[in-house]
Amino acid sequence: MSITRDDAGELRLGGLKLSEVATSPTYGTPTYVYDLDGMDREALELAAAFEGHPHLVCYAVKANSAAPIVRSFAKHGLGADVVSAGELLFALGAGVSADLVVMSGVAKTDEEIDLALGAGPRGILALQVESAEEVARVEARARALGRVARVSLRINPGLDPSEIHTHANIATGHDEAKFGVPLPRVPEALARIAESNSLTLSGLTCHVGSQFTTTDAYEGGAKVLFSLAKDALARGIALDYVDTGGGFGIDYGGGCAARPADFVRKARALAKVYGVDHLRHLVEPGRSLVGSHAVLLAKVLQTKSDRPANERVAGDPERRWLMIDAGMNDLMRPALYQSNHRVVPLALPSSASATASARVVGPVCESSDDFGLHTLPIEPFSHVALLDAGAYGYSMASRYNGRPLPAEVFVRGGRIVAAKERAPLRAWADERLSIAEE
Ligand code: LLP
Repeated sequence: MSITRDDAGELRLGGLKLSEVATSPTYGTPTYVYDLDGMDREALELAAAFEGHPHLVCYAVKANSAAPIVRSFAKHGLGADVVSAGELLFALGAGVSADLVVMSGVAKTDEEIDLALGAGPRGILALQVESAEEVARVEARARALGRVARVSLRINPGLDPSEIHTHANIATGHDEAKFGVPLPRVPEALARIAESNSLTLSGLTCHVGSQFTTTDAYEGGAKVLFSLAKDALARGIALDYVDTGGGFGIDYGGGCAARPADFVRKARALAKVYGVDHLRHLVEPGRSLVGSHAVLLAKVLQTKSDRPANERVAGDPERRWLMIDAGMNDLMRPALYQSNHRVVPLALPSSASATASARVVGPVCESSDDFGLHTLPIEPFSHVALLDAGAYGYSMASRYNGRPLPAEVFVRGGRIVAAKERAPLRAWADERLSIAEE
């Protein structure tokens, strides 16, 4: 966490006083603020957990594709996990070498496969194929381009969904999920790769889901993966790496027993058990590198109560709402996964002791535009921060309801070092109006 509150009661991120951003005419609200130092620290801590063993941390760009973040990760030697042509072009542009890029995705277009095969001198490190059918598609494109495609099989370990302890929408390692090669199809996929002179096997991959607060499901996936890797090695199939995926959770306020480094340590221990610990070890974290080191700033537009002031009705507590200028279009996670982001005032009012519960909501015309119930000071305050908004925040934002995308501010050493301003209010209307019949 990069958040602190100073002696004057002002909230700071990475040392920067957040009310300066929220009240600035340039940035205002809604604005994401990111602490680049905190994100770099996360990356270094994770790398240290490998204790010198050959490894590669492929940052899952989908969590947050802001150039200052990915440029900085690239300087620290991280690779990238991408899922589209857009993300691939972005990662390469941000300085990630093609040799450090893996591409996942259950339905890649021929154009995306071609881009991946054509990147750098040898194409990307691996197209992570997610079905036996996709092996044939990648082979056909490699042959057409006269290239040898480096591929990895992203296997689906077929875990029992009840063992994947996370929200159902972000659990991927079970039989009903569209992700990964189903175990019964793995032998034929491996055989096809071995027979082809247009394909070469880089590794075996597994990603069982996201926002795990304990390591058990991650270990469950790793066991299946390592057992397949062991069999492959025994049959003389060469492997460059095993990739145990991302999914390391962060503490959104409800606790998170396992640190990202714990997932790595557990997976390394299992690699030894299965006799595959000499292989290079890849991981694909997104959220854990960026999530806790950013906030979404919003302005309080008004409050609302369901009854006249001071009217109390026994057994029927007052309903209070706090309306802010950030909505589900800016931060979708609560609407999609019922997830909680703590909401805190930027400056604590003088008599911060008196608090009451209020439902924090945005301006979007949807019932799910709701950031949940929060205990907040009764005395008025002008701005709030939604905490832990660095992952799947801006990257999932939309312009629904004709709203501009939020601004973004990047902090290093307590100073603003980069920013992206909000588009002018007219931009959305002008763009929509530009579509005209001939
Ligand atoms: N690798 C693959 C193949 C993935 O599909 C994902 C995430 C990751 C790595 C990174 O997972 P992470 O370390 O960030 O958990 N929008 C959702 C999360 C969706 C995750 C999609 N895949 C949320 O806001 O919770």
